[in-house]
Amino acid sequence: MRSTRTLLALVYFSVFALSCKAPERTKEWWENAEFYQIYPRSFKDSDGDGLGDLNGITSKLQYLKDLGVKSAWISPIYKSPMFDMGYDVSDYMDIHPAYGTLEDFDNLISEANRLGLKILLDFVPNHSSDEHEWFVKSENREAGYEDYYIWDDGKIDPSDPNKRLPPSNWLSAFRGSGWKWSEKRKQFYYHCFTVKQPDLNFRNPLVVKEMEKVLTFWLERGVSGFRCDAVTNIYEKAPLDGVYLDEPENPDQPDPDDFDHLKHIYVLDQPESIEIVYQWRKILDEYREKNGGDQRILMIETGSPNSYSHQFYGNANTEGAQLPFNFNLIFKVDKTTDAQGLIEAIDTWLIGLPAGRTPNWVIGNHDNRRVPNRYGMERTDFMNMLGMILPGVSVTYQGDELGMVDGEVTWVETVDPMGCNTNSTVYDDYSRDPARTPFHWDSTYNAGFSTATKTWLPVASTYQTINVDVELNANGKSHLKIYKDLIKLRSKRVMRNGNYRYRENNNVFILKRFIPGEELVVLLGNMNDHNEYINLSEVDPSIPANLEILIVSMNSEKVVGTTLNTKSVLLKPSEAIVCGGTLAFYWR
Ligand code: NOJ
Ligand code: MG
Repeated sequence: MRSTRTLLALVYFSVFALSCKAPERTKEWWENAEFYQIYPRSFKDSDGDGLGDLNGITSKLQYLKDLGVKSAWISPIYKSPMFDMGYDVSDYMDIHPAYGTLEDFDNLISEANRLGLKILLDFVPNHSSDEHEWFVKSENREAGYEDYYIWDDGKIDPSDPNKRLPPSNWLSAFRGSGWKWSEKRKQFYYHCFTVKQPDLNFRNPLVVKEMEKVLTFWLERGVSGFRCDAVTNIYEKAPLDGVYLDEPENPDQPDPDDFDHLKHIYVLDQPESIEIVYQWRKILDEYREKNGGDQRILMIETGSPNSYSHQFYGNANTEGAQLPFNFNLIFKVDKTTDAQGLIEAIDTWLIGLPAGRTPNWVIGNHDNRRVPNRYGMERTDFMNMLGMILPGVSVTYQGDELGMVDGEVTWVETVDPMGCNTNSTVYDDYSRDPARTPFHWDSTYNAGFSTATKTWLPVASTYQTINVDVELNANGKSHLKIYKDLIKLRSKRVMRNGNYRYRENNNVFILKRFIPGEELVVLLGNMNDHNEYINLSEVDPSIPANLEILIVSMNSEKVVGTTLNTKSVLLKPSEAIVCGGTLAFYWR
């Protein structure tokens, strides 16, 4: 008798529990946000000098609002001699004159506030410009500044005791030795990037303090957080008995000047670089406690293995960065990737993701080739769909919503140090300029980017067909319209709070977001170069016989708003579709 009652109680409880919607936790603004990267040199030029600028950005914030993104992170806008396009900062608390003034920046923030957009700045702590006053003073051994950078006497040259050799075999990410001799100071300094970007010495508490001041300076000017540059490089292994240790060689890369020639056990991924992020998080949280407002956030540039990158999130005792960037869709996926390979790339981030942390999906940035060039033209919409439908945060590089392709940049026009440090034959394999050419606003002169006779990089030849104006006013579909529809889709509860599963069938990638008893969204992408039939409801019995077609890729002939018979789905090569429906309560 008693056990029957218990059983009944259990049944009632289960039915009750299933019929109640789990209370929705109030999420922070960034947890479901779409982030858009603005590359300021190439976004919009307001004064006709051929370079984008702050007033240009301000004049186009309405475009971001209309896109539907929540937030923009802006590549460096600080004073800089521009040897690495602003990633060589000569004053962290001022604006690069060609980009505008601090007042222009304040205007940008107030316009963003008016539109409800959050602005993040690029924080570049690992290195300054060699034209920063800290470096000038440090090179002159001015009191207090002696140890702002990583200085060392080097080794005595056995063939000439008056000469010095670099302290270790460390390489620059931009080729060749990472050590540069200073005639003035008669010592070497370490630079992981160009010789014009000396690494700051974070083992000096004064440097740590300086960088904290930088964060506070911009928080006070109203930024919502920071994208933090080259964080995995911040600390190097301290010298052992005064000697910097050589890194072991990597036999897979025989070119001795290539950064990958060494295994970076000393110049990357040191534990202290994680700890410093936890300290920055405290500064941001304390700032919010004092001044109110929404959470200020940290996005971390990290291309390291997950076991390291995931630590940036924090741990049981300490909060870290809200969003360490996930570059796996860039590093592990290309034109040749099949559905299984894609699944592995997605797994790579999600497996081991610390509980309760938010995933993010970066599909493009200013350091890599354009989306259609990397993934294949036909997969452009699919990649945007993927970044938007996977759970968490999406990160879009300017122009990827249009399907912008690599621009054409000759050797003479090349300005990126990664290209310039090579030669006229191979520069194109290294240069990042093709992804940095001016943004395409319309079909007019210079794609509506600038009235200048010459822009800093040439406008890509494709601008008359790939641009905002043409794509917004297209009769039928366009990459831009698809992108905007995806953002609209993200406002559904199932996209914000739903569960997710992904799998493949005959090289068709299948991703579903769902809330049992409520809603279902399914993304299908054919990764074959031939037509593929699938019986979706057989592959996944949770999927009902009919779904509504919500969004389709440019290469699809399916019609939005019509019904998809899931028992027999024909997909053309690289066709991608998003469908929706309701889901029975018991499916998982
Ligand atoms: C990463 C940035 O994205 C890249 O553009 C830059 O060259 C390096 N960090 C050095 O700051
Ligand atoms: Mg300008």
